[in-house]
Amino acid sequence: MIWRRRFRRSTLLLIFAVFALIWAHNFSVRLLGSPAAHRAYQPSWRNTNHAKRLGKGDSEEKELVVASFEGADTRWLDMHFDTWKKNVYVVDNASAPLTVSVNKGREAMPFLTYIVDRYDSLPDVSIFIQSPRYQWHNEDPMYDGLPVLRRLRLEHVLKRGYVSLRCTWEKGCPAELTPLHPFYRNDDRSRTEQAYASVFRRLFPHDEVPGVVGAHCSSQFAVSRARLRARPKKQYERIRDWLVETDLDDAVSSRVLEYMWHIIFRMHAVDCQDAGECFCQTFGLCNLTCDREKCRNRYWVPNSRTMPEGWPETGPGSNGWPERWWAD
Ligand SMILES: *[C@@H]1O[C@H](CO)[C@@H](O)[C@H](O)[C@H]1NC(C)=O
Ligand SMILES: *[C@@H]1O[C@H](CO)[C@@H](O)[C@H](O)[C@H]1NC(C)=O
Repeated sequence: MIWRRRFRRSTLLLIFAVFALIWAHNFSVRLLGSPAAHRAYQPSWRNTNHAKRLGKGDSEEKELVVASFEGADTRWLDMHFDTWKKNVYVVDNASAPLTVSVNKGREAMPFLTYIVDRYDSLPDVSIFIQSPRYQWHNEDPMYDGLPVLRRLRLEHVLKRGYVSLRCTWEKGCPAELTPLHPFYRNDDRSRTEQAYASVFRRLFPHDEVPGVVGAHCSSQFAVSRARLRARPKKQYERIRDWLVETDLDDAVSSRVLEYMWHIIFRMHAVDCQDAGECFCQTFGLCNLTCDREKCRNRYWVPNSRTMPEGWPETGPGSNGWPERWWAD
């Protein structure tokens, strides 16, 4: 009897302790993660030397890997990055100098094709982008990809191994997907969440499916050669085979990979760095006023995913798009 009562009491205590822990965790997440807590602070990383940027004269070898379509305007790359080696994959033209065997999974197929074909001749850093200069997810006040690439700090890519070309948490961080408890809705995000676990098990049969996946959205990133080679070539071929075979539509298959690239490149399943630290380390923007999730006067998510025709000459200030010099 006594034993049983003691047992019951310790069980109750245990259950209580577990609930208390969960509560404390949720409380701290709410407290630290609150977007309302917009506090300016002076973290230690602010003093890091950020003079060295990508560009002419740097000794590190870099190449752009560009997912593109026939007729897309890539002249901005030739004009502003004339000395960089560019691999422009035209996914819908079988006669293009660089193309894909099957046009599936949007930017994922050219990215995988590059990694597989170039596995033995990779540059120090490969920078994976989509071809339009202006895109809603580019973290620049005018959604311009040019300064994003210009500022990218190559030596930091070498050090960290993988960086997203985004730092803001909105869209992807801190928790985009909970693959083991998917939301049963019919939108692209939920369908991605529903598909994620089974794709993960197929691609990484020896790894545990992560409970939470968080990473910056939009599939533009830079990776070092060492980090790309942290997975065998076979692994990339396996991923590409899956993409060729999958019945998932492109919106979902590309999105599954959008939130898997960082894991493929050996980052934690939740890879959400402090926004200010990220802007400083990745882009040398070290004097911003930030909270954990975003920085002032850098970027906001627009209502539309389609840049206005003729942007930025036409469009600013209309239909919810920002005025031209809003951040100055
Ligand atoms: C496909 O690419 C080739 C080589 O660049 C080019 O000559 C051809 O015009 C392109 N085809 C189409 C339909 O644009
Ligand atoms: C950083 O910001 C402060 C205050 O806005 C300004 O006085 C200072 O000149 C800036 N420093 C740099 C290096 O931009």
